[in-house]
Amino acid sequence: MDSVLSARAVRKSFLIPGGQLEVLRGLDFSIRKGASASIRGESGSGKSTLLHLFAGLEGIDSGEISWGNDAISGWNARRLAAERAVRLGLVFQSYHLVGEMTALENVLFAARIAGRVDAQVKDRARFLLDRVGLGNRERQLPGKMSGGERQRVAVARAILNNPPILLADEPTGNLDEKTGEATMQMLLQLVEEQGVSLVLVTHSPHFAKACDEHWLLHDGVLTKS
Ligand SMILES: Nc1ncnc2c1ncn2[C@@H]1O[C@H](COP(=O)(O)OP(=O)(O)OP(=O)(O)O)[C@@H](O)[C@H]1O
Ligand SMILES: [Mg+2]
Repeated sequence: MDSVLSARAVRKSFLIPGGQLEVLRGLDFSIRKGASASIRGESGSGKSTLLHLFAGLEGIDSGEISWGNDAISGWNARRLAAERAVRLGLVFQSYHLVGEMTALENVLFAARIAGRVDAQVKDRARFLLDRVGLGNRERQLPGKMSGGERQRVAVARAILNNPPILLADEPTGNLDEKTGEATMQMLLQLVEEQGVSLVLVTHSPHFAKACDEHWLLHDGVLTKS
């Protein structure tokens, strides 16, 4: 099967005061090139944890995560970081922008990690900021932006490198209806026009419905509906 991202029998627990919290309990997932998948689930069900594992930002207890045909569990931190920079775009729930960098520098950060900043990339960064409605805010620091504006900077950063896989954790969570709709359209356009595979964590049934596939995370496992 030609999946670009897959998980097999993934288990993940956290040590918490007084014991162990089992969050994922043998979870399976896969997504094809150019498909979009929504993941819904109650608060605390493990959606953000799962995206971190998909991105190889945290280790799993057992099972396997694969990017394309490559199982990532054997990779060291350096290889993971290098591959992640070119294969994945990430929109975190809490944005993770760098406070000392302007909006434009934050967007360009993705290119810096991947080791390719040139005039063309800068033009694209500006174009993307414009697309998310922040064309006139490129010199602004995140601390002086609203939550929704930061989120949009994070979306622009995530797609700067044209990653084949985009993981987005509530990318419309802090946006008003109109801006949320525009951001979602932009993400879906990437899926359609550039064959990006989009994994979208959302609480919104409306945005979930716009995806090709629908998953529910409950009791530590994903089921497709
Ligand atoms: N580093 C950690 N140490 C201990 N517990 C953690 C850690 N990270 C997450 N958890 C716990 O794992 C569970 C899943 O958290 P997660 O953030 O993945 O949920 P979520 O589905 O994204 O929730 P939300 O919809 O509110 O964003 C929660 O109970 C959380 O407290
Ligand atoms: Mg979350």
